[in-house]
Amino acid sequence: MNPPRDIRIQGIPDSVPEAIAAVCRSRFSLAVNKLLDETGIEDIKVTVSTALEKDSSQNGQNSIQKKSDRDLSPEERAKRYKAQKPLFTFEQLVIPEKVREDLLLAVDLIRLESKVFDEWGLRKIEPFPRTALNFHGKPGTGKTLAAHAIASKINRPILVASYAQIESMYHGEGPKNVEAIFLAAEQQNALLFIDEADSLLSKRLTNVTQGSEQAINSMRSQLLICLERFRGVVMFSTNLVENYDKAFETRVRNIYFPMPDETCRREIWNRHLVKELPTAPDISLEKLAQVEDVCGRDIKNAVIDAAMRAARQRKEELTLSELLESINSIKKARINVTPASRPLTPEEKEETEKKIKEALAKKKQEGTS
Ligand SMILES: Nc1ncnc2c1ncn2[C@@H]1O[C@H](COP(=O)(O)OP(=O)(O)OP(=O)(O)O)[C@@H](O)[C@H]1O
Ligand SMILES: [Mg+2]
Repeated sequence: MNPPRDIRIQGIPDSVPEAIAAVCRSRFSLAVNKLLDETGIEDIKVTVSTALEKDSSQNGQNSIQKKSDRDLSPEERAKRYKAQKPLFTFEQLVIPEKVREDLLLAVDLIRLESKVFDEWGLRKIEPFPRTALNFHGKPGTGKTLAAHAIASKINRPILVASYAQIESMYHGEGPKNVEAIFLAAEQQNALLFIDEADSLLSKRLTNVTQGSEQAINSMRSQLLICLERFRGVVMFSTNLVENYDKAFETRVRNIYFPMPDETCRREIWNRHLVKELPTAPDISLEKLAQVEDVCGRDIKNAVIDAAMRAARQRKEELTLSELLESINSIKKARINVTPASRPLTPEEKEETEKKIKEALAKKKQEGTS
């Protein structure tokens, strides 16, 4: 057998933040592996790394390291994942009452587990009680914040893993990584939060023809196995799952994060204009909240952007017009990621209908006054 031919692609500048570089690396290597599968070329190991990383072919060390990485057991892999203290609290989260109730119910279920399953003996009929939540909604609506908030509410650390960290350029590693993060969460008594989980929760593919599709399928199957066995809380975050796997649908409780309405926007502005921030007397939360179609992240970015600009111009305080300017330019620059051709989800449909009704009512009111 020929020795494996290694290709190392170096190009992502090291100034690119690790989270973004990880996504680029994994997407790029998936694409390269797909190409290799299509051409039937085997025995090539492709590594995508930052521009400054040492070339492994020069001393062979990295190459050996990589190969031994592939042999790591889930237990050894689990050591790579460290839980952290939650970064946000429940009080920071502004969401409609119904979403808050859903989240608090989940918190209660976690708290009551020991009473119901141990004291009241229900472990006999369900040895692995688990809480699996899926936060879904548009970007910047508070899903990550909510995951941290739940962990902080029940005083437990949170283990954050993104899909990009789990998926691997080497076939067979993805499922081991899935197993490892569940193991790590259990060992550290942490809540598990899997970000960007769209592709993990989607339908398993039938008629698999390519290695990369097979790899995704085996990760999804492994996820199901881990969900069955896991004695803890797992939270997923997705923007859009077009095609849920039925098996996940029945095991995961979906919680939808809508875009904030005017009342929520007002409160989000209020919480982001922290008390130390010098603001002019003309600041009006009502006026800020009237800027529609912005998410919590847009508001946060607008506050930071306006504050930075004011500080650069050596101004002593932030004015309403600066904040309005920032939020409007952020809104303009935001790329609309919702493809026009996609059918609306039931929640989006409900939200759109609500908006239309509100607009009509407003118009009617304006007409009568
Ligand atoms: N509902 C909210 N209440 C209060 N602050 C919010 C809310 N939504 C967003 N924010 C602000 O925006 C920031 C980013 O939100 P977050 O990371 O939770 O969004 P996300 O839904 O996880 O987005 P993505 O889908 O892109 O991962 C938060 O740290 C917070 O400052
Ligand atoms: Mg997030």
